Amino acid sequence: MSHLALGGGQPAKSKPFPLWPQYDELERQALLDVLESRDWWRTEGDKTGQFERAFAAFHAAKYGLAVTNGTHAIEITIAALDIGWGDEVIVPDFTFIATASAILSTGALPVLVDIDPETYCIDPDAVEAAITPRTKAIIVVHMGGHPCDMDRLTEIAGRHGAALVEDSAHAHASEWRGRKVGTFGVAGTFSFQASKTMTAGEGGIILSNDEAFDRTARSVHDCGRMPGRHFYEHFIYGSNYRLSEWQGAVLGAQLTRLDAQTALRDRNARLLNDRLSAIEGITPQRLDERCTRNGHYLYLFHYDCAAFRGASTARFIDALNAEGIPTQATYPPLHALEFFQSGAYRKRLAPNAGETDALRHQPFPISQRALDEVVCLPQPVLLGDEDDVREIAQAVEKVQRFASELI
Ligand SMILES: Cc1ncc(COP(=O)(O)O)c(C=O)c1O
Repeated sequence: MSHLALGGGQPAKSKPFPLWPQYDELERQALLDVLESRDWWRTEGDKTGQFERAFAAFHAAKYGLAVTNGTHAIEITIAALDIGWGDEVIVPDFTFIATASAILSTGALPVLVDIDPETYCIDPDAVEAAITPRTKAIIVVHMGGHPCDMDRLTEIAGRHGAALVEDSAHAHASEWRGRKVGTFGVAGTFSFQASKTMTAGEGGIILSNDEAFDRTARSVHDCGRMPGRHFYEHFIYGSNYRLSEWQGAVLGAQLTRLDAQTALRDRNARLLNDRLSAIEGITPQRLDERCTRNGHYLYLFHYDCAAFRGASTARFIDALNAEGIPTQATYPPLHALEFFQSGAYRKRLAPNAGETDALRHQPFPISQRALDEVVCLPQPVLLGDEDDVREIAQAVEKVQRFASELI
């Protein structure tokens, strides 16, 4: 008889995790208000405007620009920084494709670099080594919600005159030394896609403290218009990246829960760190002591199959899912994606881009290892109570005890 749920045994998880997304009367009323106001377009309404000001204030940023999604937030940022053909932007190899594809939207070249083996965030030494005279910006990704080393990255970007952009799609309300991420560089971009820690199904925002940048980004997102000028005057290249009032209204309601939900996820993740660290072969993502709060879009940990009788990471993930713990593999490293390996990305570059093909042949051992050996739990599992945390750890222990059933 099988003990593991994968083979027909009783699942370890006894009660369901909290559902996601969460909503209540606040969202219901906000949506009704938009409906009845007949202002469904941000150009006429103010729900989206109110939300972007509130989100910026929460992060102690001067400006917030709500946009259609987190990918577009990066694309607008790159366009507003006037980065294009012949320019290079450094990004981590270990991230969602949007971080790099957004750079290609203006014809600039994403330069991939490896990550830190313990935090899975961009490696500042690798960033420094990748800088060339063509480097115009560095985009860092706060992986899973854990801030990158902002001390070193702000210093490196400043010394080389490169714009620092924080892709904070995973890191709403995360803090580095008590300061919210998304506010360290010229711009911080966020996503409100369905699985994120605040959502309207889709959506994004760009935070900034730079008035000139915000003005240009606002124009890029609204067809190249300028505030105060005639509606049919267009001054720079832009497109329609405007967020609707429906989404602005829902996000305003979601924001009221962000602080408490972040505190809960941060607390539960620390409890889970203690429990999982005690299990041979499991090493949680390292929590840098300068990370004063981790928003935890994902909970990541390293899995050593040797402590599980050699069961593959894929088998381990299947086994934990069957036990009732939602578990997934991480991002494939960008350099290994067909889009890059086939050379298709080159169609976006200028004929004289001077690209050396390094992207396809360079080794990225740490991000490759992350794909093979790092496992993620999605954020809603951290919104439960201490029993949920205990049951996650017990499920991992159970899979280890009966790992022979996985072989
Ligand atoms: C690191 C990262 N950057 C950017 C994005 C893009 O956000 P969106 O899906 O809202 O376009 C995501 C989305 O999942 C992401 O994980």
